[in-house]
Amino acid sequence: MSKLWGGRFTKETNKLVEEYTASISYDQKLAFEDIEGSIAHVTMLGECGIIPKEDADTIQKGLQTIAEKIQAGQVEFLVEHEDIHMNIEKMLIDEIGPVGGKLHTGRSRNDQVATDMHLYVRKVTNEMIELITKVQEALVEQAKHNVDTIMPGYTHLQRAQPILFAHHLLAYFWMLERDKERFSDSIKRTNWLPLGAGALAGTTFPIDRERTSELLAFSTVYPNSLDAVSDRDFVLEFLANASILMTHISRLSEEMIIWSSQEFQFIELDDSFCTGSSIMPQKKNPDVPELLRGKTGRVYGNLIGLLTVLKGLPLAYNKDMQEDKEGIFDTVNTLDGALKLLAPMIATMTVKQENMYNAVSNDYSNATDIADYLVTKGLPFREAHAIIGQIVLYGIQQQKYLLQLSIDEYKTFSPLFEEDIYAVLEPKHVVEARNSIGGTGHQQVLKQLELAEEKLEKM
Ligand code: ARG
Repeated sequence: MSKLWGGRFTKETNKLVEEYTASISYDQKLAFEDIEGSIAHVTMLGECGIIPKEDADTIQKGLQTIAEKIQAGQVEFLVEHEDIHMNIEKMLIDEIGPVGGKLHTGRSRNDQVATDMHLYVRKVTNEMIELITKVQEALVEQAKHNVDTIMPGYTHLQRAQPILFAHHLLAYFWMLERDKERFSDSIKRTNWLPLGAGALAGTTFPIDRERTSELLAFSTVYPNSLDAVSDRDFVLEFLANASILMTHISRLSEEMIIWSSQEFQFIELDDSFCTGSSIMPQKKNPDVPELLRGKTGRVYGNLIGLLTVLKGLPLAYNKDMQEDKEGIFDTVNTLDGALKLLAPMIATMTVKQENMYNAVSNDYSNATDIADYLVTKGLPFREAHAIIGQIVLYGIQQQKYLLQLSIDEYKTFSPLFEEDIYAVLEPKHVVEARNSIGGTGHQQVLKQLELAEEKLEKM
């Protein structure tokens, strides 16, 4: 089988080499981006009179026919043609004859593949933004049902201060909001067009890069042809944004796993989102959040993989760069699955409000509030802290929580204590009192919900 580049060769390519260097098994995913880029390129070639207009039209129609055939599953991609670019070019020539060979005028696979990747990354970035929004909507919905649900807040996974469950859920809303912002910020860099850079140095043909850029809805062209074909920072950026997003998803998953354990019993995941054990009949396992947590590893791996591929490469194109594809395809696939599962899993989980409330009623997480109480009576915070430390120790020894100590017991620690201390210590009051901006107080959380809904409306 003769190669499109076979002219200077005297031997057939070794079969193993052919298989080893081919990317068609995975880069066929870029078929439509490749055709879109080619149509823009050939339109520009025709408009600039670099090839006759009729030829440009014939090529464009041929490409459209090929797109339809691919859509209908009527084409076979061949390893002999190495990658998506040459498979399509070969199909084009088979479809419309030798005139198809004019498509590659003033272009190289190097600027072609970079363009395909830009188009692909732009498309999937927008898809990810939409999917993240669905998770945010589920978080807001669940938060709305839990604006009165008090739960323990933790630091070091030790009970710290009571908070509203809505507040906890909304913390993830804002993380996802920044993730979304990172993805949408990155689009302005993905919107640079590499096409027209040629193999590395530009082209001798009087091409109009601005026109190609306009046809493909890019915002600008790469000003340097070497840079255009050499970098994959826009892919790295996607992978980095994906990694940060997965960190957030993984932490939320971890919490869902802990919360649904017998030890916590704060939530129950819907049966339809859990799986059972082949040996232990009682088991209901949170496999989905476990896998979300686990799959975070491959997303990080794909980022590190591409960073490593690129780090020592001399300019300009090197075959190593073909390794930019499988990682991002895998990452997109992983995020797609994760986000599509996370939204309904959050929406359908049962929140065990009573258990959460019982937890904060049986701990010392209101201790900060007695310290604050003494501060309002004039004591410096540091001294108040020390006194409350002694009270907590006393409580632990007596096996009593802070609400169970008598006023006489309190007075032995400080004469400043009065009957009004008990109201301060009620979990509901403890939460309510945190009315600083961004705090867990009811009013603040309602404001946060409003802000969150505004963000969603702006989408
Ligand atoms: N399949 C190649 C890739 O994905 C396309 C570019 C090939 N360029 C070349 N000079 N061999 O990177």
